Amino acid sequence: MSKLRVHAPGRINIIGEHTDYTGGLVMPAAIRQGITFSVERNDADTLRLFARDLDERAEVPLPVTGKTGRTWVDYLVGITFQFQELGHAVPGLTIDFGGDLPQGAGVSSSAALEGGMAFLLNEITGAGLSRPELAKLCQRSSNTFMGIPSGIMDQFASLNGVAEGPILLDCHTLDFTPVNASLPGYSWVLINSNVTHDLSEGAYHDRVRECATALAAIQEKFPRVDRLSAASPAQVSAVADQLDPTVLRRAAFVTHENQRVRDMAKVLGADAGARSIDEEQSEEANGVSAKALAVGDLLNATHAGLRDDYEVSCAEIDFLQRWATETFAGEVTGSRIMGGGFGGCTLNLVRAGDLERLRAEVVPAYEAAFGITATMIEVEIGAGARVVGILGRGLPARPV
Ligand code: GLA
Repeated sequence: MSKLRVHAPGRINIIGEHTDYTGGLVMPAAIRQGITFSVERNDADTLRLFARDLDERAEVPLPVTGKTGRTWVDYLVGITFQFQELGHAVPGLTIDFGGDLPQGAGVSSSAALEGGMAFLLNEITGAGLSRPELAKLCQRSSNTFMGIPSGIMDQFASLNGVAEGPILLDCHTLDFTPVNASLPGYSWVLINSNVTHDLSEGAYHDRVRECATALAAIQEKFPRVDRLSAASPAQVSAVADQLDPTVLRRAAFVTHENQRVRDMAKVLGADAGARSIDEEQSEEANGVSAKALAVGDLLNATHAGLRDDYEVSCAEIDFLQRWATETFAGEVTGSRIMGGGFGGCTLNLVRAGDLERLRAEVVPAYEAAFGITATMIEVEIGAGARVVGILGRGLPARPV
């Protein structure tokens, strides 16, 4: 019996938070860590699933018809359902999977689960979907099967990420282009607060609704604005009187965050028409590069917006962000909460030689304040979902 092995990565996001579901700009990257799936056919017309890290098993008869009530199983069943809906018969499969992605850390373990399942079913059924189409299928499954109104960023990054760097992605057109985010002498570092607050799911729904409310008011005055991310800050201000103050702050955040993504692309030199900051000429006497400072300023501005206007931060994350940018102001040029919010990780731009000193101080300080041990991960950007091995012959329906 032949076996296919597929790896699907988690993601970070440099900037562009809570903009994807309003058709805005984001800058995510696939990372080295992810989930690896081993899959082989069985003759039982059943999905036999084994989650190695949880040491849990499930058996789901095919064709799948609905939710099982177990979250990790449903992520896989939901993707199977989407393939069936497109007319692709899914054969009996025995799948075991596991990996090194922390859950609830905001690095999209669920998108890796969906992306990996979609990728392997595409291979096995010969559906021939492109990576962007697979990302859309995954988002559809999240939205309609799982009932989570998320945007497309996470699954898109897991499936379309490139090893060269993050991608600048327009979530409306799905056009994307790689960006060089490596800054000589600096590392991208995640500090995991190791907290996930329960309110994250309900609050996410609320934010999506608030954005829809803002859009409806903007469209009354500017009918050609087809999505919130297409509105300018001036258009948002023009309807300020009609908006509830909370909704106004959410909408203002979204328009400013899109601008920050554009600014980040310019600073990193991703926008061909833009003047990027010349690293050598702008090197300052203390060795902190102007480019790293400009990147850090944008991260800090995003954090302030997510904390004060979008209100998706929490005390633990704010502590880590403040600690990094105040106590380590010379070593950390910028820091922000990453992902959906209410816990997870901060993303930090850290001067390369200072990482261990940062770890030695931030971990005990955070532990003293909250009784929780923070963990730090130096980010390695990697490629999107891929086949990592085929043992035996005859499993994928098309050559890989
Ligand atoms: C979660 C969602 C994404 C995106 C981020 C916030 O990760 O899954 O679609 O909205 O939050 O940027």
